[in-house]
Amino acid sequence: MKKRHLITAALPYANGPIHIGHLAGCYLPADIYTRFLKATGEEVLFICGTDEHGVAIELKARKENTTPQAVVDKYYEVIRDSFKDFGIDFSHFSRTSRPIHHETAQAFFKKLYDEGRFKEIETEQYFDEEAGQFLADRYIIGTCPKCGHDHAYGDQCEKCGSSLSPDELIKPHSALSGKAPVKRKTKNWFLPMDEMAEAPGFKEYAKRVELWKTNVKGQFNSWIQQGLQPRSMTRDLKWGIPVPVAGAEGKVLYVWFDAPIGYISATREYFEGLGQPEAWKTWWQDPSSSLVHFIGKDNIVFHTIIFPMILNEHGGYNLPDQVPANEFLNLEGDKLSTSRNWAIWLHEYLIDFPDKQDELRYTLTSIAPETKDSDFTWKDYQSRVNSELVAILGNFVNRVMVLTHKFFEGMVPGNKLKPDTAARAAVLDAIRANQDEVAGYQHEMIRSLNDFRFREAQATMMNMARAGNRFLAETEPWKLHKTDAAATAVILDYALQLCAQLALACEPFLPFTKGKLLQQLQWEPDTATRRQWWREQDAVFPLEAGHQLGQPFLLFQNIEDAAMDAQRARLVKPTPVEENTKPEYTPLKPEITYDDFVKLDLRVGQVIAAEKVVGADKLLQLTIDLGFEQRTVVSGIAMHFAPEEIVGGKVTLLANLAPRKLRGIMSQGMILMAENKDGKLLFVAPNGSADNGGTIS
Ligand code: MF3
Ligand code: ZN
Repeated sequence: MKKRHLITAALPYANGPIHIGHLAGCYLPADIYTRFLKATGEEVLFICGTDEHGVAIELKARKENTTPQAVVDKYYEVIRDSFKDFGIDFSHFSRTSRPIHHETAQAFFKKLYDEGRFKEIETEQYFDEEAGQFLADRYIIGTCPKCGHDHAYGDQCEKCGSSLSPDELIKPHSALSGKAPVKRKTKNWFLPMDEMAEAPGFKEYAKRVELWKTNVKGQFNSWIQQGLQPRSMTRDLKWGIPVPVAGAEGKVLYVWFDAPIGYISATREYFEGLGQPEAWKTWWQDPSSSLVHFIGKDNIVFHTIIFPMILNEHGGYNLPDQVPANEFLNLEGDKLSTSRNWAIWLHEYLIDFPDKQDELRYTLTSIAPETKDSDFTWKDYQSRVNSELVAILGNFVNRVMVLTHKFFEGMVPGNKLKPDTAARAAVLDAIRANQDEVAGYQHEMIRSLNDFRFREAQATMMNMARAGNRFLAETEPWKLHKTDAAATAVILDYALQLCAQLALACEPFLPFTKGKLLQQLQWEPDTATRRQWWREQDAVFPLEAGHQLGQPFLLFQNIEDAAMDAQRARLVKPTPVEENTKPEYTPLKPEITYDDFVKLDLRVGQVIAAEKVVGADKLLQLTIDLGFEQRTVVSGIAMHFAPEEIVGGKVTLLANLAPRKLRGIMSQGMILMAENKDGKLLFVAPNGSADNGGTIS
């Protein structure tokens, strides 16, 4: 392990507040990881701030009829406060409008410019004659060539996540005037990414990426394989950091050039504040420091390719050691959307649920979109609070606290007991067994945290509390007290030590709960104890006999149905606005070669059995005869066909598709369907006389 850890979380655009999708995708995992490393005694720096440039900010200013400066000033505070309220434990939270950032970003650009790393290229860019300006990035809107979404931006389609350039948009129009744009010549500075990908430093770094999360590695490789294109690092815009070279008047740095450098300027600012203006270098330049970027999946290309390339070309900087990007979080089955107000905003959540930060943190970590998109629902939130936090963790701690107060006046009773009767020996055995079980969870949780598997880590933490409840159920101290007070004492002593371990264990996930637990235990772990526990050396039993506990109180409260109904009612069901309407035709996918095509093994199949998949409205389980074998295929056609009407029919089967599990059933292939304008599905059926198993080409 490296000596120190520089952890960054994506700089949020200062053009709106923070919602649960942001929290789950990036800030919460980054916070958990930081808290975990700190607990183990590692040296950690956790850096963030607001991203205050780019078209997104200008557009928001237009919408709110104000200036970009007013927009960023407002949201910088809103965002900073939300993070603080949810216990996101940044070492430093900066903003990219600060002079130190402008200087740092300009110096970066200047160095690369002076060394001739950019290509100066004159291109034709879209221009809005009515507004009198170039239409970079989000200023240009059109139909996405990849998915047909008709509100894709010049830099990205938010529906399918593709990264785009303005020229790829079908039927482009200006976000300012709504008019079709014209083209005008302009000069910009491009990063020749195709060449830079061949640089030894970058190639060396690329090997590291192979060890990263599948979703991150997948995007990285697909970009590299497609062949990188030179990308402009400057823009013809007003709002931004001026390009610091002669002949670039009226141009600013591309926001994705300056923003990641914001991590560096924020680090500099932090150490300047401490009166150590050179110390940032250790964190960025000393190879014994590691660099980990937490981001959402739409930021992968920038953090795994473009920024590392910029760092590598500059020289002297560490390249990222890990980029544990998450997928997206949905809300009640729909994509989160700021424009449609389909979101749960952190500052609004806190108005309705003050002091329930950990309830939200817990739910979001339980469903963190670590490997695929996931869905937040209020029903799930309620059930996780009521049946996990209240019923398992809260219940365990409360029972132990209340019993100790009842039987031992709230004093830690001590753990001395001789196994002089069979019953007492059994108690001691139960304690030992429980201790082993908990130690197993402790180790498992630490492994998961090291591997960025935070969902699992948190679930394992919860297993410790479950083990505690099981221990109480087995030993029944409330009954035993009548006959053997000494045995009851050691049971509660052990249970209290487990509460202390839980306080340690929940620190990365539930920092507020940790505080409440420590308050009840009247205990403050010293650094050595905390470190020892987190470094997997034996469990700790820190509460000494005779130690006076605080008063018991409930860690969590049940959430009533009415509160959930109110939250659901607040969410406005998105109306089918233009964003959702279908274009007249689905645009063609990019060209493929004949070799691509022959990889598909299409076969004639016949449906010989069909049944509904229990618990899945849309799925049918089909048995397909291929003559030489039979296949099970799960197909999403249950809304279109009744099982009995399709048995006997011929189908086209993509027979060499990798099998995958759907609702627990292994599906071995895919049946080709045609889709009508009204969304009706039809089988692409070979002629009835085709032989089962015959090839289709
Ligand atoms: N503002 C960008 C977004 O919200 C993220 C910027 S991350 C940084 O998608 F690397 F540029 F800092
Ligand atoms: Zn798209």
